[in-house]
Amino acid sequence: MIKATLLSAALALTAPAAMAAESSGHEIENIDFPFDGPFGAYDVNQLQRGLQIYTEVCSACHGLRYVPFRTLSDDGGPSLPDDQMRAYAAQYEVYDEELDDFREAKPTDHFPMSSLSNAPDLSLMAKARAGFHGPYGLGINQFFKGIGGPEYIAALLHGYTGEEKEQAGVILYENDYFPGGWIAMAPPLYDEAVEFEDGHANTVEAMAEDVAAFLMWTAEPKLGARKQAGFAGVVFLTLLSVLLYLTNKRLWASVKRKD
Ligand code: HEC
Repeated sequence: MIKATLLSAALALTAPAAMAAESSGHEIENIDFPFDGPFGAYDVNQLQRGLQIYTEVCSACHGLRYVPFRTLSDDGGPSLPDDQMRAYAAQYEVYDEELDDFREAKPTDHFPMSSLSNAPDLSLMAKARAGFHGPYGLGINQFFKGIGGPEYIAALLHGYTGEEKEQAGVILYENDYFPGGWIAMAPPLYDEAVEFEDGHANTVEAMAEDVAAFLMWTAEPKLGARKQAGFAGVVFLTLLSVLLYLTNKRLWASVKRKD
């Protein structure tokens, strides 16, 4: 009896997650991002392409209010040279309370907020969404593949079916990966929407991946430092375990000696 109630309680707990995973219909595929895995790091070129896509396409509606311009030249990030980063910031205008007026943005200023009121800020989006919910809604896959935030963003950007409908005065677009299936964002990308200086592929899929990687960086700019610290920690703890094992042997040697 108790067992049965426990079981149904456990099922009730996992059911919403399972439903959320199913409601979007399509399974999100893992993408081999360069920053995956214990030694992964961001690919500078990919981040720079992602920044360009964000700037030319997404920034029309979405803000990145938690990202200061100066971080664009940080190591492990898009690594723009200092003068390029300053020039990039200067393209934006920010409101200065002291001047009570707008002025050119400085490196210490942040990207603006979303200009479209119903478009969410994208700074932390890659960590706010999970792509992998399985198996059975338990989320265990996340241990192996990561939470799948960038995968979700990439899938969302090329998941449009082409269908649209109007509901309460808003046009909704059918998208296989958006929970509920209908999103208020018009398909933002189309093939060759952005031209890269080095002629890199600019299909919808390629750009979706690049901008998703860039948004992973905005959400976790210190990923490289975290992985390095983690690796140093593991090496240190391994060494410490060996030394402690040997110390333990030594300490107990006289007690354990059978003669
Ligand atoms: C024309 C304006 C517009 C443009 C351009 C645009 N978006 Fe959106 N986006 C929206 C709106 C509006 C929503 C909210 C949709 C909703 O909740 O139904 C949204 C939602 C999102 C979401 C959140 C989905 C979720 O799970 O809640 C992501 C991620 C996103 N956009 C990424 C992007 C990226 C990346 C680009 C650039 C390639 C982009 N958007 C370009 C308007 C836009």
